[in-house]
Amino acid sequence: MNRIAPSVLAADFARLGEEVRSVIRAGADWIHFDVMDNHYVPNLSMGPSIAAAIKPHCVTDEGTAVPLDVHLMIKPVDALAEQFASAGADLISFHPEASEHVDRSLQAIKAAGCRAGLVFNPATPLEVLDWTIDRLDLILIMSVNPGFGGQAFIPAVLDKAREARERIEATGRDIRLQIDGGITADTIRAAADAGVDTFVAGSAIFGSDDYAGTIRAMRERLD
Ligand code: DX5
Ligand code: ZN
Repeated sequence: MNRIAPSVLAADFARLGEEVRSVIRAGADWIHFDVMDNHYVPNLSMGPSIAAAIKPHCVTDEGTAVPLDVHLMIKPVDALAEQFASAGADLISFHPEASEHVDRSLQAIKAAGCRAGLVFNPATPLEVLDWTIDRLDLILIMSVNPGFGGQAFIPAVLDKAREARERIEATGRDIRLQIDGGITADTIRAAADAGVDTFVAGSAIFGSDDYAGTIRAMRERLD
């Protein structure tokens, strides 16, 4: 089952709750929330109080909860991960380079009741999965360098996505394979063909006039 996860980094911050509701009505499966600290990445975005503010909006009109998917681009990881768990995150992912003790950070996220993910930059190899995959619920392959929306998709990461899919299959566990950066109706199919099942898209969705039409166009490419 494919999932579309609009990134609210590209939403209108003055109307964030309304934007979350609109994109859920338009067919979003998850809400992707990008956290940047001007230290691990050269940009600053949103903290736990903003996650807590949008959490009540992460629900369909029928009342079904929509997962809040928090992507931490921050260093260090642990203290803020716990704050995001308290703010209502359902999934929390982080970059292994940003934690001195990756296994401890994963344990902290799970102990806080969240699903846990690791994120791989375009130049980061997957080797850390050798000793972490059993704790993971999500692997996120970055198809741009983290820090900014609206960048061009880097096709070289598709081989890494294929390798990640093989590693997931070898576990026999239900681990989502997510991609983030430069995803549009034009790039989504190549990612799916590489084994990706969860697609983050910021500017392609929130930069369009018709969120539902854009999400529908993405799903059509997946069918
Ligand atoms: C980049 C973020 C992305 C970003 C994607 O560092 O992790 O989630 O919002 O934006 P687009 O879809 O515009 O590339
Ligand atoms: Zn992201």
